[in-house]
Amino acid sequence: MAKQSNGYTVLQLSLHWLIVLLVFFQLIFGEDMARYNYALRSGEDVAPLMTGYYLHIGVGLVILVLTLLRFGLRLTIGVPASVPGPALRVRAGEALHYLFYLMLIVTPITGLLAQFVDMRTFGGIHSLNKPIFVLLIVLHVAAALYHHFILKDSTLRRMMVPHTF
Ligand code: HEM
Ligand code: HEM
Repeated sequence: MAKQSNGYTVLQLSLHWLIVLLVFFQLIFGEDMARYNYALRSGEDVAPLMTGYYLHIGVGLVILVLTLLRFGLRLTIGVPASVPGPALRVRAGEALHYLFYLMLIVTPITGLLAQFVDMRTFGGIHSLNKPIFVLLIVLHVAAALYHHFILKDSTLRRMMVPHTF
């Protein structure tokens, strides 16, 4: 059970939407990393692929740091309570949020382990992140739209407009 606040702060909203953009970047351009490693193994010229390589690692590490900051804020200042509803729906929503946090932490770590420790073991695990993220995002966005357009509650609005304390 997370600590409860009256609403998300500007910093919490900024972190949510910035991390969304960065994760989309990684999902769209992740193949650059596989291409770099393939070229390296086949003895091809990797110079044109270096920008993609550094961007993937850099953006991945930024996601990790911002996620830890965001989780820290969740523990200290808290998040607003879920909008009331059937217990199963509320719990499923909270579980999905924790799964996102888990993915946002485990994915960069398996990426680092794949690149610098053991590609055979961790490369496969890291590549699984794409379908898992896509599934979670589809469920999450569907839930946000369902709250906004069908239930007509404040769930999506409060993720757009900061709470003033
Ligand atoms: C949340 C952060 C990250 C996301 C969402 C992400 C996403 C992706 C995606 C979608 C791919 C393509 C997978 C495929 O081939 O199907 C990929 C590949 C790869 N990523 Fe990441 N990545 C992240 C962080 C990192 C970090 C920090 C590293 C550190 C070096 C890294 C290293 C790699 C490597 C080595 C590959 C190629 C794996 C292979 O060839 O099998 N990733 N990543
Ligand atoms: C990579 C994509 C995304 C990730 C990783 C993500 C992650 C999260 C997480 C972890 C939370 C829990 C709140 C917290 O603990 O701070 C959350 C809440 C929320 N997200 Fe996302 N999100 C993503 C994309 C989106 C998109 C595209 C939308 C809009 C359609 C959206 C709408 C919301 C809403 C409305 C909440 C508030 C739920 C509530 O207050 O009960 N998210 N998101």
